[in-house]
Amino acid sequence: MSARVMDGAAVAARIRGAVAEDVARLSGHGVVPRLEVVLVGDDPASRVYVAAKGKAAHEVGIRAATHALPAATTAEELRELIVQLNCNGDVDGILLQLPLPSHLNSRAFLDLVDPAKDVDGFHPLNVGLLHQGRPSFVPCTPAGIMELLDAEGVGLSGRRAVVLGRSEIVGKPMAALLLARHATVTVCHSRTADLAGVCRQADVLVAAIGKAALVSAEFVKPGAVVVDVGINRVEDPGLVARLYPGDEGRRGQVAKRGYTLVGDVDFTAVREVAAAITPVPGGVGPLTIAGLLRNTVRAARRRRGME
Ligand code: GUN
Repeated sequence: MSARVMDGAAVAARIRGAVAEDVARLSGHGVVPRLEVVLVGDDPASRVYVAAKGKAAHEVGIRAATHALPAATTAEELRELIVQLNCNGDVDGILLQLPLPSHLNSRAFLDLVDPAKDVDGFHPLNVGLLHQGRPSFVPCTPAGIMELLDAEGVGLSGRRAVVLGRSEIVGKPMAALLLARHATVTVCHSRTADLAGVCRQADVLVAAIGKAALVSAEFVKPGAVVVDVGINRVEDPGLVARLYPGDEGRRGQVAKRGYTLVGDVDFTAVREVAAAITPVPGGVGPLTIAGLLRNTVRAARRRRGME
């Protein structure tokens, strides 16, 4: 059996279309949503993500600006910028791109973002509301995954869901959303005993652990739905050839730019066991950006008492 490949890009395109319509309606009321992205340092992946977020925002009519700060930015400087964005009545959404350089404590700065402008859903108020089953701003990646599962007609009530990874960005909010939909949820992490055995119980397996191709066929129950959140750079041509035998495109990427992007799931092997699977790239990634755009429009409406 070869699994159905779930098309995150198509679901994301539909969300972006709906957001563009919302933005057009808002502009009829003289409101143009505004997103401010804060990027500290020169992490190459973060630069790519931030550029993609800004471009997608512009495409749906959201005003977006990036504050690119040097890696040596002090805590005081970053605090000042966030306070200034909080106080600026024209700003609807604030996104602090993670990771921050190691001398800056991300939690302290996420706590500082006005919860009403917290389009990432990382402020403790929004996290608490989510875990109480009263979602406000929901982190973009897990929210997008729920939309994908719904679009694919994946039933959750009473099913076993396993989330591999316990990050604040994906693992924990993903577990909360699945629980709210009446799945029986297990969260696994680096210290889980018999990781493969626990994952193999899942009807729905969400892999968000950041280890290239960790999830092999033995982690997956036949007929399971597998969502791959990982985006890992793999430079070793031998490993790429093993993971994607015969994929000349990926071999070419490694030769040309030095790496290819691989998920947390061994796609080629798991595809033969699962019923449905997301690819990397083109699966979950586009949904994250679509979720951000939607949260930004939501913030613009809520701040004006329109929702
Ligand atoms: N770094 C990786 N993913 C994300 C995300 O969804 N939001 C932010 N702010 N930083 C990230």
